[in-house]
Amino acid sequence: MNNFEFKNPTKIIFGKGTIEKIKEEIPADAKVLLLYGGGSIKKNGIYNQVKTALDKVDVIEFGGIPANPEYATLMEALKVIKAENITYLLAVGGGSVIDGTKFLSSAALYEGDEPWDILTKHIRTEKGMPFGTVLTLPATGSEMNSGAVITRKETKEKLAMGGPGLFPQFSILDPEVVKSIPQRQLANGLADAFTHVLEQYMTYSVDAKLQDRFAESILQTLVEIAPSVLKDAFDYKAASNFMWSCTMALNGLIQKGVPNDWAVHAMGHELTALYGIDHARTLAIITESHYKYNFEAKKEKLAQYGERVWNITEGSIDDKAYAAIEKTTAFFKSLGIDTKLSDYTEDYEGTAEEIAKRFIDRGWLGLGEHQSLSPEKVEDIVKMAY
Ligand code: NZQ
Ligand code: ZN
Repeated sequence: MNNFEFKNPTKIIFGKGTIEKIKEEIPADAKVLLLYGGGSIKKNGIYNQVKTALDKVDVIEFGGIPANPEYATLMEALKVIKAENITYLLAVGGGSVIDGTKFLSSAALYEGDEPWDILTKHIRTEKGMPFGTVLTLPATGSEMNSGAVITRKETKEKLAMGGPGLFPQFSILDPEVVKSIPQRQLANGLADAFTHVLEQYMTYSVDAKLQDRFAESILQTLVEIAPSVLKDAFDYKAASNFMWSCTMALNGLIQKGVPNDWAVHAMGHELTALYGIDHARTLAIITESHYKYNFEAKKEKLAQYGERVWNITEGSIDDKAYAAIEKTTAFFKSLGIDTKLSDYTEDYEGTAEEIAKRFIDRGWLGLGEHQSLSPEKVEDIVKMAY
């Protein structure tokens, strides 16, 4: 096992009827900016629960943060934070609203002129404005980690940021919120969390038995509950398992002491930046090509995953590894998610070259667990995903 340090300070408040507990978490004298997305919270009752909980607190609102949180919109929110002397942020939404709030937490205390530099110059946020979250969409794990991904339409960029100052102080996880989530977003959540686990697991063995089994158990749970989560009738038991699995998939725990990949996300983010494809779907597009292309380097782990998650018992290591890749694609398809770029756009020619060029420009010359995935290899993988 590799050396590691682990600290996760986010307080999780999990369960039915827990939204009212926000009032116990936010300081009574705080001036709060409540941030939300396109308005789903006003239709499903979450907004009312939040407002009731905060009736004795000084709250201003900022809505309209789009999916793939947009820099220009967030800069409007930053003006409100400054003009109104906001001291505490509350994100009520999915990964996009939470990530947007993390950007604001950082930008509110940033002393430079251009907050976009936080993303382009990889400025780590050691201290941000305090914030909490009410999660409305299980998927990203953003509610219990310190990373964020911000989009800038103007330049078709989607870049990551983070730092120890960006953990939420608390996150409310009430599985009842799953009731109103459309099928497309439920499928996205399942696929995103599944891929988060793969990125931290599908590398090479360092004999970290516990991390492997944590990862495998999250994958198994997601596979087991997916049909119930996607059923029309709301199933609270499935929703709770879904929600906690998504959080556990990316709260830092399973990635400690083991090599991490994250190349699928690096390529996937470019597909969202270029074509606006939902984040989780970009991962489903890239995964199969990435694992086939890096088959030799990943086959031991692929075979272990095949055996333990998909019960593949027949054949050689190569056979099992190959069958595991097929099972993964079939899983995405079972969620109703297409796995080729050409399923999403007719305009795919040149995408691989463009992504490789962007990686060269950014100096991303070696991704993955061996830091050996060069832009040329990225180009090949993206082409295989057409
Ligand atoms: O905007 P509203 O009206 O709230 O509607 C949203 C949005 O249209 C809707 N929704 C959310 N909760 C709902 C609901 N609709 C009905 N009922 C509810 N309870 O769902 C739509 C998608 O929301 P979004 O927040 O964009 O989805 P998700 O949670 O998948 O977040 C995606 C973003 O997170 C980033 C992605 O790149 C993308 O920008 N990621 C963040 C990560 C992190 N911080 O750790 C890691 C991930 O890998 C990912 O990159
Ligand atoms: Zn993701």
